[in-house]
Amino acid sequence: MSDLRLRLARAFDFAAHQVKATIERTPDFSPSYTREGRWKHGGDVWTDWSSGFHAGMMWKIAEHTGSAEWRATAEHYSRLLQRKQHDRSAHDLGFIFIPTYLPWYRLTADPAINDVLVTAGRSLATRYNAKGMYLRSFVAPESLLIDIMMNVPLVFHAAIATEDQLLYDQAVAHCRTTAQTLVRPDGGTAQEAIFDLDTGAFLCQTTEQGFGPHSDWTRGLAWSIYGFATVYTLTSDPTDLAVAERNADHFLSRCPTGTVPPWDFDVLPGPDRIEDTSAAAIAASGLLNLAELSLDPTRATRYRDAAIALLDTLCHDRYLASSTPEWEGVLLHGVYHFQKKFGVDESTIWGDYYFLEAVDKALRLV
Ligand code: GLY
Repeated sequence: MSDLRLRLARAFDFAAHQVKATIERTPDFSPSYTREGRWKHGGDVWTDWSSGFHAGMMWKIAEHTGSAEWRATAEHYSRLLQRKQHDRSAHDLGFIFIPTYLPWYRLTADPAINDVLVTAGRSLATRYNAKGMYLRSFVAPESLLIDIMMNVPLVFHAAIATEDQLLYDQAVAHCRTTAQTLVRPDGGTAQEAIFDLDTGAFLCQTTEQGFGPHSDWTRGLAWSIYGFATVYTLTSDPTDLAVAERNADHFLSRCPTGTVPPWDFDVLPGPDRIEDTSAAAIAASGLLNLAELSLDPTRATRYRDAAIALLDTLCHDRYLASSTPEWEGVLLHGVYHFQKKFGVDESTIWGDYYFLEAVDKALRLV
């Protein structure tokens, strides 16, 4: 076994160990971010968007190991989320159901599991603003976030499963509006766009979690790489592939090979410029997906190599918590919301989930 393969395999096993320990310590609890290394702390979550990732890790482990016990646990933790299929108050249903009910459905083709996905997709689509042609964020009716690119595939799933052309067209329109208003010509992204609710006209870019309206909030850029790449698999429209590639090229131009990026590429040098391993993990996983889709072999190799280099870095002691006694997460040095001081320099469950996903994919490549 090569050294890299060994490091990746150890990281996967460590992640499985941490998930098991969290299940035993706090049964039926969905972690979000740690405080001083502990998942359960009663801190503010700002919005409840991350409850699918812990169960999502269980699905990854169940698939990787073939263990019936992990499979039963993944199903149990997924069922705890089922009621959220009706939640129309937030844009995050994709983050909750894509890591959980989608793998469950892919494994079983059970129509009852698909019904949950379709209902969740339709609940999300009720947030469609027809004048502005976007799915509105939880922040305000006039707000569109880059994060929603990770959720819109759930609307596509519902549209395709029920052959609903209107729903499909709304999902496509959301992606076009996002590309026009949030993705800059250089491939960078703003987090938020604001619209005029009377006319639907785009007014300006702004941010919730980034350094500023004109900065590259790193996780948002990673969401865009991953989101547009996923959407391309659903639309086969070269426009979506081109956006994902533009995002990826921009990310790689700002992030030297094998380095973990700061939480915002534009945050000024100094104590606030700290790393975000969750952005690194999402970008690595998105780049591996994009490498499979890109029609240009040179690009594909560049994306794959960059993703593997980033994962290799994340496997070292500075980032992997395996040498940090009592730490409950997998990746150290993640950032949730720097401005609100939630989960700053901590583990995040989405960082852990996308890291596990990317390591699983990399283990099939190296
Ligand atoms: N709300 C999604 C994120 O923090 O990236």
